[in-house]
Amino acid sequence: MAANSFTRMNIFVTGGAGYIGSICTEALLGAGHAVTVYDDLSEGHRSAVDPRARFVLGRPDEPGNILDAVKEARPDAVMHFAANALVGESMTNPKKYFHNNVANGLKLLDAAVECGVKKFVFSSTCATYGPPDRLPMTEDLPQCPINPYGESKLMFERMLQWYQRIYGLEFVAFRYFNAAGASERFGEHHRIETHLIPNVLRVALDQKPHCEIYGTDYPTPDGTCVRDYIHILDLAQAHMLGLAPGRQGFYNLGNGDGYSVREVVRMCEKVTGKTIPTVEKPRRPGDPPRLVAAAEKAVRELGWQPKHPRLEDIVATAWAWHEKHPNGYPD
Ligand SMILES: NC(=O)c1ccc[n+]([C@@H]2O[C@H](COP(=O)([O-])OP(=O)(O)OC[C@H]3O[C@@H](n4cnc5c(N)ncnc54)[C@H](O)[C@@H]3O)[C@@H](O)[C@H]2O)c1
Repeated sequence: MAANSFTRMNIFVTGGAGYIGSICTEALLGAGHAVTVYDDLSEGHRSAVDPRARFVLGRPDEPGNILDAVKEARPDAVMHFAANALVGESMTNPKKYFHNNVANGLKLLDAAVECGVKKFVFSSTCATYGPPDRLPMTEDLPQCPINPYGESKLMFERMLQWYQRIYGLEFVAFRYFNAAGASERFGEHHRIETHLIPNVLRVALDQKPHCEIYGTDYPTPDGTCVRDYIHILDLAQAHMLGLAPGRQGFYNLGNGDGYSVREVVRMCEKVTGKTIPTVEKPRRPGDPPRLVAAAEKAVRELGWQPKHPRLEDIVATAWAWHEKHPNGYPD
Protein backbone atom coordinates (compact mmCIF):
# COMPACT_ATOMS: atom_id res chain seq x y z
CA MET A 1 0.00 0.00 0.00
CA ALA A 2 1.55 3.36 -0.93
CA ALA A 3 2.12 5.70 2.01
CA ASN A 4 -0.26 8.31 0.62
CA SER A 5 -3.10 5.85 0.12
CA PHE A 6 -3.58 4.93 3.78
CA THR A 7 -7.12 3.90 4.62
CA ARG A 8 -8.03 3.94 8.29
CA MET A 9 -9.74 0.69 9.14
CA ASN A 10 -11.76 -0.50 12.06
CA ILE A 11 -10.28 -3.83 13.15
CA PHE A 12 -11.68 -6.48 15.46
CA VAL A 13 -8.76 -8.29 17.11
CA THR A 14 -9.50 -11.55 18.91
CA GLY A 15 -6.84 -12.62 21.38
CA GLY A 16 -5.52 -9.05 21.60
CA ALA A 17 -4.53 -9.54 25.25
CA GLY A 18 -2.14 -12.35 24.30
CA TYR A 19 1.47 -12.16 23.18
CA ILE A 20 1.13 -11.71 19.43
CA GLY A 21 -2.30 -10.06 19.46
CA SER A 22 -1.21 -7.37 21.94
CA ILE A 23 1.78 -6.32 19.84
CA CYS A 24 -0.18 -6.41 16.58
CA THR A 25 -2.82 -4.25 18.28
CA GLU A 26 -0.14 -1.75 19.27
CA ALA A 27 1.18 -1.72 15.68
CA LEU A 28 -2.30 -1.26 14.19
CA LEU A 29 -3.06 1.64 16.52
CA GLY A 30 0.36 3.13 15.80
CA ALA A 31 -0.45 3.02 12.09
CA GLY A 32 -3.70 4.93 12.68
CA HIS A 33 -6.28 2.13 12.65
CA ALA A 34 -9.05 1.77 15.24
CA VAL A 35 -9.04 -1.48 17.22
CA THR A 36 -11.52 -3.43 19.30
CA VAL A 37 -9.84 -6.20 21.29
CA TYR A 38 -12.01 -9.21 22.11
CA ASP A 39 -10.34 -11.53 24.62
CA ASP A 40 -11.68 -13.83 27.32
CA LEU A 41 -8.43 -13.43 29.31
CA SER A 42 -8.17 -17.21 29.65
CA GLU A 43 -4.50 -16.85 28.77
CA GLY A 44 -3.96 -13.19 28.04
CA HIS A 45 -3.51 -10.20 30.33
CA ARG A 46 -5.72 -7.14 30.64
CA SER A 47 -2.66 -4.94 31.09
CA ALA A 48 -1.25 -6.20 27.78
CA VAL A 49 -4.09 -4.46 25.94
CA ASP A 50 -3.00 -1.13 24.53
CA PRO A 51 -5.08 1.52 26.34
CA ARG A 52 -5.94 3.16 22.99
CA ALA A 53 -7.93 0.04 22.01
CA ARG A 54 -11.52 -0.60 22.98
CA PHE A 55 -11.63 -3.76 25.11
CA VAL A 56 -14.42 -6.33 25.18
CA LEU A 57 -14.19 -9.13 27.71
CA GLY A 58 -15.17 -12.12 25.60
CA ARG A 59 -17.48 -14.87 26.79
CA PRO A 60 -17.08 -17.27 23.88
CA ASP A 61 -19.23 -19.99 25.46
CA GLU A 62 -22.25 -17.68 25.83
CA PRO A 63 -24.57 -18.04 22.84
CA GLY A 64 -24.55 -14.94 20.66
CA ASN A 65 -21.68 -13.32 22.54
CA ILE A 66 -19.21 -13.13 19.69
CA LEU A 67 -21.88 -12.14 17.18
CA ASP A 68 -23.05 -9.29 19.44
CA ALA A 69 -19.46 -8.12 19.89
CA VAL A 70 -18.77 -8.09 16.14
CA LYS A 71 -22.11 -6.38 15.42
CA GLU A 72 -21.34 -3.66 17.91
CA ALA A 73 -17.80 -3.10 16.64
CA ARG A 74 -18.87 -3.10 12.93
CA PRO A 75 -15.32 -3.85 11.81
CA ASP A 76 -13.88 -3.63 8.31
CA ALA A 77 -11.52 -6.48 9.15
CA VAL A 78 -11.07 -9.22 11.72
CA MET A 79 -7.67 -10.42 12.94
CA HIS A 80 -8.10 -13.75 14.65
CA PHE A 81 -5.30 -14.52 17.12
CA ALA A 82 -7.45 -16.15 19.81
CA ALA A 83 -6.69 -19.84 20.22
CA ASN A 84 -5.23 -22.42 22.51
CA ALA A 85 -1.71 -23.00 21.32
CA LEU A 86 0.11 -25.58 23.45
CA VAL A 87 1.13 -28.57 21.34
CA GLY A 88 1.75 -30.85 24.34
CA GLU A 89 -1.56 -30.00 25.99
CA SER A 90 -3.38 -30.70 22.74
CA MET A 91 -2.06 -34.27 22.84
CA THR A 92 -3.72 -34.89 26.21
CA ASN A 93 -6.79 -32.64 25.90
CA PRO A 94 -7.68 -32.50 22.20
CA LYS A 95 -11.30 -31.55 22.83
CA LYS A 96 -10.21 -28.21 24.29
CA TYR A 97 -8.42 -27.53 20.99
CA PHE A 98 -11.24 -28.54 18.67
CA HIS A 99 -13.84 -26.70 20.78
CA ASN A 100 -11.94 -23.47 21.04
CA ASN A 101 -9.90 -23.32 17.85
CA VAL A 102 -12.52 -24.81 15.55
CA ALA A 103 -16.01 -24.48 17.10
CA ASN A 104 -15.49 -21.04 18.68
CA GLY A 105 -13.60 -19.97 15.58
CA LEU A 106 -16.55 -20.98 13.43
CA LYS A 107 -18.87 -18.72 15.45
CA LEU A 108 -16.51 -15.86 14.71
CA LEU A 109 -16.43 -16.70 11.00
CA ASP A 110 -20.23 -16.75 10.88
CA ALA A 111 -20.36 -13.42 12.69
CA ALA A 112 -17.86 -11.96 10.19
CA VAL A 113 -19.99 -13.06 7.24
CA GLU A 114 -23.22 -11.86 8.87
CA CYS A 115 -21.71 -8.45 9.58
CA GLY A 116 -20.23 -8.00 6.10
CA VAL A 117 -16.59 -8.00 7.21
CA LYS A 118 -14.34 -7.36 4.22
CA LYS A 119 -11.15 -9.09 5.33
CA PHE A 120 -10.29 -11.91 7.71
CA VAL A 121 -6.67 -12.35 8.84
CA PHE A 122 -5.91 -15.63 10.56
CA SER A 123 -3.00 -16.78 12.77
CA SER A 124 -2.10 -20.17 11.43
CA THR A 125 1.04 -22.10 12.10
CA CYS A 126 3.82 -24.24 10.63
CA ALA A 127 2.35 -27.01 12.83
CA THR A 128 -0.24 -27.51 10.05
CA TYR A 129 2.52 -29.10 7.91
CA GLY A 130 3.88 -31.79 10.20
CA PRO A 131 7.46 -32.99 9.60
CA PRO A 132 8.48 -31.60 6.19
CA ASP A 133 10.05 -33.75 3.49
CA ARG A 134 12.04 -30.78 2.18
CA LEU A 135 13.49 -27.52 3.45
CA PRO A 136 13.01 -24.62 3.42
CA MET A 137 9.26 -25.11 3.70
CA THR A 138 7.09 -23.56 1.01
CA GLU A 139 3.32 -23.08 1.27
CA ASP A 140 2.59 -25.91 -1.14
CA LEU A 141 4.05 -28.67 1.06
CA PRO A 142 1.58 -31.36 2.10
CA GLN A 143 -0.26 -30.53 5.31
CA CYS A 144 -0.20 -33.54 7.62
CA PRO A 145 -0.29 -32.26 11.21
CA ILE A 146 0.95 -34.61 13.91
CA ASN A 147 -0.93 -33.10 16.86
CA PRO A 148 -4.49 -31.84 17.52
CA TYR A 149 -3.26 -28.25 17.77
CA GLY A 150 -1.95 -28.31 14.18
CA GLU A 151 -5.02 -30.23 13.04
CA SER A 152 -7.37 -27.66 14.58
CA LYS A 153 -5.54 -24.84 12.78
CA LEU A 154 -5.67 -26.75 9.50
CA MET A 155 -9.41 -27.30 9.95
CA PHE A 156 -9.84 -23.57 10.37
CA GLU A 157 -7.78 -22.91 7.23
CA ARG A 158 -10.07 -25.24 5.30
CA MET A 159 -13.21 -23.51 6.64
CA LEU A 160 -11.72 -20.19 5.53
CA GLN A 161 -11.25 -21.47 1.99
CA TRP A 162 -14.89 -22.58 1.75
CA TYR A 163 -16.13 -19.33 3.29
CA GLN A 164 -14.09 -17.42 0.77
CA ARG A 165 -15.32 -19.49 -2.15
CA ILE A 166 -18.99 -19.51 -1.19
CA TYR A 167 -19.55 -16.36 0.89
CA GLY A 168 -16.80 -14.27 -0.69
CA LEU A 169 -15.01 -13.66 2.63
CA GLU A 170 -11.53 -12.48 1.63
CA PHE A 171 -8.85 -13.95 3.90
CA VAL A 172 -5.13 -14.01 4.53
CA ALA A 173 -3.81 -16.86 6.68
CA PHE A 174 -0.29 -16.51 8.04
CA ARG A 175 1.57 -19.66 8.99
CA TYR A 176 3.95 -18.41 11.64
CA PHE A 177 7.14 -20.20 12.48
CA ASN A 178 8.50 -19.24 15.94
CA ALA A 179 7.36 -15.78 16.99
CA ALA A 180 9.83 -14.13 19.37
CA GLY A 181 11.07 -10.76 20.65
CA ALA A 182 9.15 -7.81 22.04
CA SER A 183 8.15 -4.24 21.35
CA GLU A 184 9.22 -1.57 23.84
CA ARG A 185 5.95 -1.85 25.77
CA PHE A 186 4.65 -5.34 25.22
CA GLY A 187 6.27 -8.75 25.41
CA GLU A 188 5.85 -12.47 25.80
CA HIS A 189 4.19 -13.72 28.99
CA HIS A 190 2.42 -17.03 28.54
CA ARG A 191 0.99 -18.47 31.75
CA ILE A 192 2.51 -21.81 30.78
CA GLU A 193 5.68 -20.99 28.87
CA THR A 194 6.80 -23.62 26.38
CA HIS A 195 8.79 -21.34 24.07
CA LEU A 196 12.54 -21.56 24.10
CA ILE A 197 13.68 -17.92 24.27
CA PRO A 198 11.54 -16.79 27.26
CA ASN A 199 12.45 -20.00 29.07
CA VAL A 200 16.16 -19.44 28.54
CA LEU A 201 15.79 -15.80 29.64
CA ARG A 202 14.13 -16.94 32.86
CA VAL A 203 17.38 -18.76 33.66
CA ALA A 204 19.28 -15.51 32.98
CA LEU A 205 16.89 -13.79 35.43
CA ASP A 206 17.71 -16.45 38.07
CA GLN A 207 14.11 -17.65 38.05
CA LYS A 208 15.08 -21.14 36.94
CA PRO A 209 18.29 -23.05 37.66
CA HIS A 210 18.76 -24.34 34.12
CA CYS A 211 17.08 -24.75 30.78
CA GLU A 212 16.18 -28.13 29.36
CA ILE A 213 17.27 -29.31 25.93
CA TYR A 214 14.93 -31.96 24.60
CA GLY A 215 16.89 -34.24 22.31
CA THR A 216 20.58 -33.99 21.43
CA ASP A 217 20.71 -36.78 18.86
CA TYR A 218 18.76 -35.21 15.99
CA PRO A 219 20.27 -35.25 12.49
CA THR A 220 21.30 -31.58 12.80
CA PRO A 221 24.82 -30.10 13.04
CA ASP A 222 24.86 -30.04 16.87
CA GLY A 223 22.18 -32.69 17.50
CA THR A 224 19.52 -30.26 18.77
CA CYS A 225 16.32 -29.16 17.02
CA VAL A 226 16.53 -26.30 14.52
CA ARG A 227 13.79 -23.65 14.36
CA ASP A 228 13.13 -20.42 12.46
CA TYR A 229 12.60 -17.35 14.70
CA ILE A 230 10.68 -14.34 13.50
CA HIS A 231 10.54 -10.98 15.25
CA ILE A 232 7.11 -10.08 16.52
CA LEU A 233 7.30 -6.61 14.91
CA ASP A 234 8.00 -8.17 11.50
CA LEU A 235 5.03 -10.41 12.03
CA ALA A 236 2.90 -7.37 12.88
CA GLN A 237 4.07 -5.65 9.69
CA ALA A 238 2.93 -8.63 7.61
CA HIS A 239 -0.51 -8.46 9.21
CA MET A 240 -0.92 -4.85 8.22
CA LEU A 241 0.13 -5.59 4.64
CA GLY A 242 -2.40 -8.42 4.55
CA LEU A 243 -5.21 -5.92 5.16
CA ALA A 244 -4.98 -4.36 1.71
CA PRO A 245 -7.95 -5.18 -0.54
CA GLY A 246 -7.35 -8.04 -2.94
CA ARG A 247 -4.66 -9.69 -0.84
CA GLN A 248 -5.65 -13.25 -0.29
CA GLY A 249 -4.17 -16.66 0.52
CA PHE A 250 -1.70 -18.55 2.68
CA TYR A 251 1.69 -17.17 3.62
CA ASN A 252 4.58 -18.55 5.66
CA LEU A 253 6.19 -16.05 8.01
CA GLY A 254 9.76 -16.85 9.00
CA ASN A 255 13.28 -15.66 8.20
CA GLY A 256 14.53 -18.72 6.35
CA ASP A 257 17.37 -19.09 8.89
CA GLY A 258 17.37 -22.04 11.20
CA TYR A 259 18.95 -21.87 14.65
CA SER A 260 19.54 -24.88 16.85
CA VAL A 261 18.54 -24.94 20.50
CA ARG A 262 22.20 -24.71 21.49
CA GLU A 263 22.73 -21.72 19.19
CA VAL A 264 19.77 -19.93 20.78
CA VAL A 265 21.12 -20.64 24.27
CA ARG A 266 24.54 -19.29 23.24
CA MET A 267 22.92 -16.17 21.78
CA CYS A 268 21.02 -15.61 25.03
CA GLU A 269 24.31 -15.91 26.92
CA LYS A 270 25.90 -13.34 24.64
CA VAL A 271 22.98 -10.88 24.90
CA THR A 272 22.46 -11.21 28.67
CA GLY A 273 26.11 -11.66 29.68
CA LYS A 274 25.00 -14.57 31.91
CA THR A 275 25.93 -18.23 31.85
CA ILE A 276 22.93 -20.43 31.08
CA PRO A 277 23.26 -23.95 32.49
CA THR A 278 21.50 -26.58 30.39
CA VAL A 279 20.25 -30.08 31.17
CA GLU A 280 19.93 -32.60 28.37
CA LYS A 281 16.67 -34.55 28.22
CA PRO A 282 15.30 -37.16 25.82
CA ARG A 283 13.47 -36.09 22.66
CA ARG A 284 9.83 -35.01 23.03
CA PRO A 285 7.35 -36.91 20.88
CA GLY A 286 6.32 -35.01 17.78
CA ASP A 287 9.26 -32.55 17.58
CA PRO A 288 10.50 -32.48 13.96
CA PRO A 289 14.30 -32.04 13.71
CA ARG A 290 14.20 -28.92 11.51
CA LEU A 291 11.48 -26.40 10.67
CA VAL A 292 12.64 -23.55 8.45
CA ALA A 293 10.38 -21.31 6.39
CA ALA A 294 10.55 -20.18 2.82
CA ALA A 295 8.72 -16.85 3.10
CA GLU A 296 9.44 -15.49 -0.39
CA LYS A 297 5.74 -15.58 -1.23
CA ALA A 298 4.97 -12.97 1.46
CA VAL A 299 7.91 -10.86 0.24
CA ARG A 300 6.86 -11.11 -3.40
CA GLU A 301 3.09 -10.76 -3.09
CA LEU A 302 2.64 -8.61 0.04
CA GLY A 303 5.82 -6.55 -0.17
CA TRP A 304 6.82 -7.86 3.26
CA GLN A 305 10.34 -6.87 4.34
CA PRO A 306 11.47 -8.19 7.71
CA LYS A 307 13.39 -5.44 9.52
CA HIS A 308 14.70 -7.52 12.43
CA PRO A 309 15.82 -10.83 10.96
CA ARG A 310 18.94 -11.24 13.14
CA LEU A 311 18.59 -13.63 16.05
CA GLU A 312 20.68 -11.27 18.16
CA ASP A 313 18.15 -8.44 17.71
CA ILE A 314 15.24 -10.77 18.39
CA VAL A 315 16.81 -11.96 21.65
CA ALA A 316 17.92 -8.45 22.62
CA THR A 317 14.39 -7.03 22.41
CA ALA A 318 13.01 -9.99 24.35
CA TRP A 319 15.68 -9.53 27.02
CA ALA A 320 15.03 -5.79 27.30
CA TRP A 321 11.35 -6.51 27.97
CA HIS A 322 11.98 -9.35 30.42
CA GLU A 323 14.52 -7.29 32.36
CA LYS A 324 11.94 -4.50 32.70
CA HIS A 325 9.13 -6.97 33.52
CA PRO A 326 10.83 -9.88 35.32
CA ASN A 327 7.47 -11.23 36.48
CA GLY A 328 5.69 -10.46 33.23
CA TYR A 329 2.35 -8.69 33.37
CA PRO A 330 0.85 -8.10 36.82
CA ASP A 331 -2.50 -9.70 35.96
N1 LIG B 1 3.60 -17.82 19.63
C1 LIG B 1 3.99 -18.45 18.50
O1 LIG B 1 5.19 -18.63 18.26
C2 LIG B 1 2.95 -18.91 17.50
C3 LIG B 1 3.38 -19.68 16.41
C4 LIG B 1 2.42 -20.09 15.46
C5 LIG B 1 1.10 -19.70 15.59
N2 LIG B 1 0.71 -18.97 16.67
C6 LIG B 1 -0.71 -18.59 16.77
O2 LIG B 1 -0.77 -17.21 17.06
C7 LIG B 1 -1.89 -16.92 17.89
C8 LIG B 1 -1.47 -16.11 19.09
O3 LIG B 1 -0.47 -16.83 19.80
P1 LIG B 1 0.11 -16.25 21.17
O4 LIG B 1 1.45 -16.85 21.36
O5 LIG B 1 -0.05 -14.78 21.18
O6 LIG B 1 -0.89 -16.92 22.20
P2 LIG B 1 -1.52 -16.31 23.55
O7 LIG B 1 -2.04 -17.46 24.36
O8 LIG B 1 -0.55 -15.39 24.19
O9 LIG B 1 -2.75 -15.44 23.01
C9 LIG B 1 -4.01 -15.99 22.70
C10 LIG B 1 -5.06 -15.07 23.32
O10 LIG B 1 -6.34 -15.53 22.94
C11 LIG B 1 -7.21 -15.46 24.09
N3 LIG B 1 -8.26 -16.45 23.81
C12 LIG B 1 -8.15 -17.80 23.64
N4 LIG B 1 -9.33 -18.33 23.29
C13 LIG B 1 -10.22 -17.31 23.24
C14 LIG B 1 -11.60 -17.20 22.88
N5 LIG B 1 -12.30 -18.28 22.52
N6 LIG B 1 -12.18 -16.00 22.91
C15 LIG B 1 -11.49 -14.90 23.26
N7 LIG B 1 -10.18 -14.92 23.59
C16 LIG B 1 -9.56 -16.11 23.57
C17 LIG B 1 -6.33 -15.75 25.28
O11 LIG B 1 -6.84 -15.24 26.48
C18 LIG B 1 -5.03 -15.06 24.85
O12 LIG B 1 -5.03 -13.71 25.28
C19 LIG B 1 -2.53 -18.26 18.21
O13 LIG B 1 -3.63 -18.45 17.35
C20 LIG B 1 -1.44 -19.27 17.92
O14 LIG B 1 -1.97 -20.51 17.52
C21 LIG B 1 1.60 -18.58 17.63
